[in-house]
Amino acid sequence: MSIERTLSILKPDATRRNITGKIITKFEENGLRVVAQKRIRLTKAQAEAFYEVHKERPFYASLVESMIAAPVVVQVLEGENAVAKNREIMGATNPAAADEGTIRKEFAESVEANSVHGSDSLENAEKEIAFFFAQTEIVG
Ligand code: CMP
Repeated sequence: MSIERTLSILKPDATRRNITGKIITKFEENGLRVVAQKRIRLTKAQAEAFYEVHKERPFYASLVESMIAAPVVVQVLEGENAVAKNREIMGATNPAAADEGTIRKEFAESVEANSVHGSDSLENAEKEIAFFFAQTEIVG
């Protein structure tokens, strides 16, 4: 077990419905700490760059549009095995497949508007954290 940091995004469907606090409570109740956080409006270029890995997917253009439709809250979460732990707390990408008690089961509207994003590996977590945060903005 080791203390890790992971990148979390509360997506436009969550800010629009004013449920960011309910989602953050799930992280905190499950042992993750918010060590950096800001509410921003992604530009189209930022959304495209962030999801570049999905560029060839049929849902890419729609995903980018959905991510710029309203503000997002970007966060760094810290805790024991934070990358895997966060993915457990979020639940499956498709809310129809998500376990009871997970964020996506409880709050997601659809596979695209699925309320949260979380890094899928420690390596990507480092890249995604650096995409949004300067080291000085992360206070553990
Ligand atoms: P996220 O964890 O942010 O990573 C990629 C995102 O693409 C995913 O959450 C969903 O928002 C979106 N996504 C993944 N699969 C699909 C799909 N089949 N249709 C639409 N959007 C999808």
